[in-house]
Amino acid sequence: MRGFIITGTSSGIGKALCELLLEDENNRVFGISRTQKIEHSNYKHLSLDLNDIAEIEALEFPDWSNAEQISLIHNAGWIGPIQKMGKQELGAIAASYIINLVAPAVLSNHFIARYRSSKAQKVILSIGSGAAHTPVAGWNTYCSSKAGLDMLSRCIDEEYDDIINLSIAPGKVDTPMQNDIRFADEKEFPRLKEFQNYHNKGELTGTKEVAEKYKKVLYKPAQHLHIDRISDI
Ligand SMILES: NC(=O)c1ccc[n+]([C@@H]2O[C@H](COP(=O)([O-])OP(=O)(O)OC[C@H]3O[C@@H](n4cnc5c(N)ncnc54)[C@H](OP(=O)(O)O)[C@@H]3O)[C@@H](O)[C@H]2O)c1
Repeated sequence: MRGFIITGTSSGIGKALCELLLEDENNRVFGISRTQKIEHSNYKHLSLDLNDIAEIEALEFPDWSNAEQISLIHNAGWIGPIQKMGKQELGAIAASYIINLVAPAVLSNHFIARYRSSKAQKVILSIGSGAAHTPVAGWNTYCSSKAGLDMLSRCIDEEYDDIINLSIAPGKVDTPMQNDIRFADEKEFPRLKEFQNYHNKGELTGTKEVAEKYKKVLYKPAQHLHIDRISDI
């Protein structure tokens, strides 16, 4: 049996990956997001706001003592209000870093402690972003928190030989996050038309296609895999 803990299972990439994994009756999924969209006998949902550190601190991971593999997938993410620095509000700045970076750190800390003595193969997959390596005007907290998430993965990789750490960006995917990007204010986000064109020209990848690739990686994870795009695999 394989166990997967996935954040952000209510929409986009996380929902597609969760649904795909649940097609295999040997898989169990523990999903975390504020809203529940998936019902399945092998799915357990925790409705939780990842912006609330106390709630994350109190959560309990499943007892998967018979698992051959246990994976933690940091998928939930927030682009934040698309605004240049100088216009951002304190609460939004904090929430962006908490959801995209602090929550994955707290969850990773829990995961490693909780399953330390498990004989299962352990995997931590961070759904990264090209924005972690390329600055984008208007995405200041998103780019910098995603850069931090990638470095968190690399640091854990230095610390543990028995945990496979993967940090892989999905490319441009047709999800609600891309929809939010298309409705940004061009004064705050100079690349608005470029992103509207990705959608208008049908250049966004479907969530199912991306989920298939992540599933392939999770089933046969290679050590130290930090690559920019899932399509490069
Ligand atoms: N789409 C792209 O083109 C693209 C490109 C590069 C990287 N990514 C990355 O891919 C990942 C998935 O993005 P997506 O495009 O699939 O986004 P999405 O459709 O907007 O889904 C985001 C998920 O995160 C959850 N989430 C957001 N804030 C949360 C909070 N405070 N507490 C708990 N859950 C929260 C949402 O659930 P609730 O709202 O129900 O809480 C939702 O399930 C993200 O890490 C994103 O950075 C996406």
